[in-house]
Amino acid sequence: MKKISLTGIKPTGDLHIGNYFGAIKPALELANEYDARYFIADYHALNTMKDPKELNTTIRQVAAGWLASGLDPEKVIFYRQSSIPEVFELNAMLMAFTAKGLMNRAHAYKAAVQDNAEKGDDTDAGINMGLFTYPVLMAADIIIFDSDVVPVGKDQVQHIEMAQDIAQSVNANYGKQVLKVPQAAVQENTALIPGLDGRKMSKSYGNIIPLFTPEKQLRKTIMRITTNSQTVEEPKNPDESQIFQLYKLFAEPQEETDLANRYRAGGMGWGDAKEELFRVVDRTLAPIRRRYDEIMADIPSLDKILKQGAEKARPIAQSTINRFRKAAGVD
Ligand code: ADP
Ligand code: TRP
Repeated sequence: MKKISLTGIKPTGDLHIGNYFGAIKPALELANEYDARYFIADYHALNTMKDPKELNTTIRQVAAGWLASGLDPEKVIFYRQSSIPEVFELNAMLMAFTAKGLMNRAHAYKAAVQDNAEKGDDTDAGINMGLFTYPVLMAADIIIFDSDVVPVGKDQVQHIEMAQDIAQSVNANYGKQVLKVPQAAVQENTALIPGLDGRKMSKSYGNIIPLFTPEKQLRKTIMRITTNSQTVEEPKNPDESQIFQLYKLFAEPQEETDLANRYRAGGMGWGDAKEELFRVVDRTLAPIRRRYDEIMADIPSLDKILKQGAEKARPIAQSTINRFRKAAGVD
């Protein structure tokens, strides 16, 4: 039997290059050798997105992003989290096996608490239970499909470790393997794509290069990348430049070597470095962007694909739930 690869993306805003190289591309590569299940984590997005129209749109955008990037729904089970009620049943069951202290240690929750403390607010301000218990729902997403590997960027590794802890505590309680214990699959070279300001590219930092922005806008965004004050003449170290880090993702090996030499030789300013980056980014993204626009122009077909995916996913989800209910004595 083939191993199972699973990952999800929250529809909380525009997909960006970090999502593409950190999650989508490695996941699509894994789909060639694994049985793949990829989904839109729409209930995870509900924690922060309360505008129905906006959420409705971003769900379709992220789905179209996967398809435009090459996901083949005949090969990959592709669905919305919210279409699989068994995920939420498993979430409720896993709650009983999740230590509150484990949730206290989650990075996202700790960051929110610290942020409140720094502002002098009540430490619980603006934190809903969805955020606090986020890792349990994520564990349910993963465990429901007996996933072996979860392709994600580095920032999600802690969540996968928590899913391991939770599955192991279930298995330890019943003295047998009721639930599969998943592993994270992080690609070292794309684990942390830098954003415009050099920090991790993230929607929450407002430093993204969106995947599906028109050419003109893409160029403008790339021109906004922060640089140091080195003059045109000065030789530059490509390994210390986030422009070059991004360039490497899109360039052919020969292009990479040639441009690294130009950096080191001096005589090339940051403006030129950004132009070179724009050229390779646009070359790669233009065809994906065209497919994305076509998919977004036909939402009923997109919704049909997601519905068919959910129909394929549910029987698998039901069998995991039945196995767990039986082990728990709730059958
Ligand atoms: P964001 O940080 O923009 O909110 P998400 O948390 O929705 O992004 O991430 C979706 C997927 O993309 C996850 O697997 C995450 O690890 C990956 N990812 C996001 N940003 C990056 C990045 N800068 N580098 C590598 N992977 C990333
Ligand atoms: N937490 C992930 C993120 O922020 C999204 C996600 C939800 C996920 N459920 C998942 C990723 C299950 C992998 C597996 O990006």
